Amino acid sequence: MQVFYEKAPFLEFVKDSQRLGQYRALVPTMGALHRGHTSLMDLARSHVDSGPHGYADGLVGTSIFVNPTQFGPNEDLDAYPRTLDADLEACERAGVDFVFAPTRPEEVYPEDPSVTVCEDTLSLRHCGAKRPGHFDGVCLVVAKLFHLFQAQAAVFGEKDFQQLAVIRRMVRDLDFPIEILSGATVREEDGLALSSRNTYLSAEHRALAPQIYAELKSCRECWDAGKYPSWQAAEEGLADRLRAIPEASLDYAHLVDSATLASPSGSQLPPEKYRFLVAVRFGKTRLIDNL
Ligand code: PAJ
Repeated sequence: MQVFYEKAPFLEFVKDSQRLGQYRALVPTMGALHRGHTSLMDLARSHVDSGPHGYADGLVGTSIFVNPTQFGPNEDLDAYPRTLDADLEACERAGVDFVFAPTRPEEVYPEDPSVTVCEDTLSLRHCGAKRPGHFDGVCLVVAKLFHLFQAQAAVFGEKDFQQLAVIRRMVRDLDFPIEILSGATVREEDGLALSSRNTYLSAEHRALAPQIYAELKSCRECWDAGKYPSWQAAEEGLADRLRAIPEASLDYAHLVDSATLASPSGSQLPPEKYRFLVAVRFGKTRLIDNL
């Protein structure tokens, strides 16, 4: 596995790979890697090994970069866990071929950046309403990573469902020549979605947090059993259940169209097209999940 901490040698490596006619699949991360991340690397590996679009040879690449532009002024940029050595071992075990791990933001951003990328419809809802500018920062860094890696495919997790939808929209609207693949959410045995931020939870909050997924599932069961007269009743029912979790404070519980992230318009809801998106706080830690 080749590891690059600086942009210049990394760009040389990408050029060589282009000359060799290799396919590249990218898994962007902010490090603090867990099984959720490595499941995306596995997905990238099997995609590349399937010889997509007639490529005989291909590589899986990962980026590890805690991107400052997606953190708000009062968010956890400085406290965000940084575990580079363990991350590189995890990449190696997952069969990653190369890693771009710029250790300083200056390797990624010029001193006086003046161009931004702003998706201004999907980004404003749900998490975006609570975290102004967050998805602009995500779009900016992901657009830059797409250029730096010149990858044919990139893999994102459904765990961050809004992020995935925003990136698909950016790729569509700006004609990025890249295929976006997605991986299902990986969970702890008790159902809690794996997240680097779970380490911030106190023991008490950690014990309560699996109730988020439990409530999502029971709400879906009630929906499937026809217990809600309308989607609004389902959304309100889920919100009430989440509010009832001890110590939890509900940010939002929304039922949305999977592509547009907007509320349903009619009363007919084909289940494969809709998602519940939720965000719940325990103390200062904000957890998101979806089903
Ligand atoms: P990060 O939070 O490190 O997540 C990297 C990728 O792992 C994202 O695509 C995310 O959806 C996925 N992921 C996280 N937890 C997961 C889980 N439990 N199961 C499956 N996939 C999971 O998301 C970011 O970084 C950043 O915003 C980034 C896209 C790298 C831009 O900076």
